[in-house]
Amino acid sequence: MGRLSVDLCGVTLDNPVIPASGAFGYGYEFAELYDINCLGTFSFKGTTLLPRFGNPTPRIAETPAGMLNSVGLQNPGVEKVISEELPKLKKVFHKPVMANVSGFSAEEYAKTCELLDQEEQVGWLEVNVSCPNVHGGGMSFGTDPQAAASVVRAVKAVTKKPVILKLTPNVTDIAAVAVACEEAGADGLSLINTLLGMRLDLRTRKPILANVMGGLSGPAVFPVALRMVYQVSKAVSIPVVGMGGVSSASDVIEMMLAGATAVEIGAANLTDPFACKRIIDELPAEMDRLGIDRLSEIIGGGH
Ligand code: SIN
Repeated sequence: MGRLSVDLCGVTLDNPVIPASGAFGYGYEFAELYDINCLGTFSFKGTTLLPRFGNPTPRIAETPAGMLNSVGLQNPGVEKVISEELPKLKKVFHKPVMANVSGFSAEEYAKTCELLDQEEQVGWLEVNVSCPNVHGGGMSFGTDPQAAASVVRAVKAVTKKPVILKLTPNVTDIAAVAVACEEAGADGLSLINTLLGMRLDLRTRKPILANVMGGLSGPAVFPVALRMVYQVSKAVSIPVVGMGGVSSASDVIEMMLAGATAVEIGAANLTDPFACKRIIDELPAEMDRLGIDRLSEIIGGGH
């Protein structure tokens, strides 16, 4: 194990840097820019059982130090992901990949995970119970500890791969949801998904996003994400993947001190497609500057 490597649910990552779902496509698009095998892994675009067209446009609004999105889980559906996207990825990425799964019922989550369970390259299932941009699914599971637990149980029944629940910050007590997921058998947790927000166009006096509200991400949310990673990692004993506004090697280290085993990076990829590579390249010098020998030793060091 190198000085950057970490263990995520029994799988070794060369480093803790993971492009977040929705910010890195199905990976091969970024392989045109750099060798994506430098990544720890990445989480691919949120995938549902059936194809989804997504929400009406505009779907993106800018904010100070961040952005709002209301994409609505646009994706080609799990069968096309397996038959068309994963074979393209396999040619350029030679590590286990994280499959991000969304759904509208516990059964639907389970069916999609069962299909992805057959895919050798899928190393973890990241089960997204936190999308704020769809009705009747996504976040409606993640805001209720028992509903989140029911998704965990349904998915765990169909797969032996590690199951990581992606949690929403749009709750009063995220630790309660985290504990319910752990008790139901989750192998790990990732947090935070986006914070529900909105913007108005001052000229039209109407919402900028066609879906009115959307999810806020980017550097503005980093302190909120850090606080929740700290709270959740104190409350559970399974690994926590931290995300939310991470854009530098020092942010990665701060997230790990708060309790993250690995760190996902989302919005930063949209302003700088080389962000994850840059952060990986910068980590050793930042570790030297802070007197850190191995990253795995600092997880939860800020508790
Ligand atoms: C979306 O597709 O709307 C974003 C996914 C998410 O926030 O979980």
